[in-house]
Amino acid sequence: MLGEVIEYLDPKPGQNIIDCTLGGGGYTVEIAERIGKKGKILAIDLDKMAINNLEFRIKNLELNIKSVCGNFKDLQKIVSNEFKEKEVKFRGIVFDLGLSSAQLQDKSRGFAFQMDAPLIMEFGIWNAESGMERTGDIVNKWRQEDLEKIIREYGEERFAGRIARGIVERRKQEPIKTTGELVEAIGGVVPAAYKRNHHRGGIRKIHFATRTFQALRIATNRELENLEQALPQAVDLLAPGGRVAVVSFHSLEDRIVKRFFKKESKDCLCPPTLPICQCGHKARLKILTRKVIKPTEEEVENNPRARSAKLRVAEKV
Ligand SMILES: C[S@@+](CC[C@H](N)C(=O)[O-])C[C@H]1O[C@@H](n2cnc3c(N)ncnc32)[C@H](O)[C@@H]1O
Repeated sequence: MLGEVIEYLDPKPGQNIIDCTLGGGGYTVEIAERIGKKGKILAIDLDKMAINNLEFRIKNLELNIKSVCGNFKDLQKIVSNEFKEKEVKFRGIVFDLGLSSAQLQDKSRGFAFQMDAPLIMEFGIWNAESGMERTGDIVNKWRQEDLEKIIREYGEERFAGRIARGIVERRKQEPIKTTGELVEAIGGVVPAAYKRNHHRGGIRKIHFATRTFQALRIATNRELENLEQALPQAVDLLAPGGRVAVVSFHSLEDRIVKRFFKKESKDCLCPPTLPICQCGHKARLKILTRKVIKPTEEEVENNPRARSAKLRVAEKV
């Protein structure tokens, strides 16, 4: 969605922009080239690997990028640390949610079910203050009902009940420590037809562990909570006319963005039964994408992971 995001943000020389999800740096570098030396882009990622990769990538380029290893749920705090001028405002803020290709391919972490790796799906380094869960704790310590709930809700997995039961049965023998062991536990309880991983009727079936892995990643990193905390801060940080763009990959994320934009684009939030407004809420956003933007067929063909991407953009009034 890089092309669409750039079109909406339309970065110009001298502007200040925030990329809340640096990842492989695709968005950051493209924006940095457009805002030039007089502009500044703050690029945030929880993953030190993203920061290191960016530093290597731009070392011979003259770009004004400030990269910070942190969680975008702390957006205001990060901005106050990095920008000494009080009341700094931004022309654009972008979120490209989820995980990067580099994280998916990293053999030391357990994001991919195709590789046998330790069961670590944390975007950043876990510590007690990080607000993250440990993937191993979710899998080996959470109650069966709670496991089932996240697999159903975050994974939208119709066999959530069976899978949660299968995980609990398996961990009774010994803790599940690797992605391979987790895939085995899932594979042991889902129907055989569900495991056949092939194209049928032109529809590409996903691997039977995909949804459970997605659920565990979202729960580990508290991805929905982070987004809910970050969006109001992003609006506060926008200059009038500045734009916030969010690319999401999950219907729950998209719903959070949609509802937030809708609420922030209304002048009053009182129930319709009240004759006069008592909340005093004032619209802070104008929605620019009445209908959600989806990737082009060409993009999905080049990058199948983009198939579920959805872009929403709003402008500060
Ligand atoms: C889909 S990738 C971004 C790709 C990027 N737009 C590019 O062009 O390469 C998402 C990135 O967001 C990071 N991320 C996810 N949640 C985060 C959070 N709460 N705070 C900071 N970074 C986060 C992940 O570590 C990952 O590197």
